[in-house]
Amino acid sequence: MEKTLVLVKPDAVQRGLIGEVTSRLERRGLRLVAAKFLAVSQELAETHYAIHKGKTFYEPLINYITSSPVMAMAWEGPNAVAAVRQTMGATRPTEAAPGSIRHDFGLEVGRNLTHASDSVENGEKEVALWFKPEELVSWGRDVDRWIFE
Ligand code: RTP
Ligand code: MG
Repeated sequence: MEKTLVLVKPDAVQRGLIGEVTSRLERRGLRLVAAKFLAVSQELAETHYAIHKGKTFYEPLINYITSSPVMAMAWEGPNAVAAVRQTMGATRPTEAAPGSIRHDFGLEVGRNLTHASDSVENGEKEVALWFKPEELVSWGRDVDRWIFE
């Protein structure tokens, strides 16, 4: 099953939105397979955002993600990567679709509340970066057959 990494970033944690983000993903029909609340180390932040190294926003981004704890979660489902990106909305909150998390709660790109993997390949890589294999829970829900075709 396709998996994707979600981070409830420091601003969303500080604003008490862990439940809101989690609730929207549950309501969408996605299945939670791992979760942990942690302070992100400099090393983990740099590995996670390695692709952005050298960009103007890289240092503020590393400062942002390490500024306060995050809630890291792995979610799975058919088309989980695309579904979660859509639920989060475009990177810039002013470009995010109405009804998306970034639209409904955000104003600035540097305080855009959540992270979600941007491809199936990166979903696999990021889940493996943030979680040990034994932290991923393989399980089924009785309602799965009414959500997954
Ligand atoms: P994320 O990786 O956090 O899910 O966000 P994303 O795919 O929508 O956006 P990405 O291009 O990967 O950028 C990562 C994060 O860097 C910050 N950013 N700031 N100031 C800027 O122009 C700028 N651009 C990106 C945002 O926090 C973005 O989520
Ligand atoms: Mg990204």
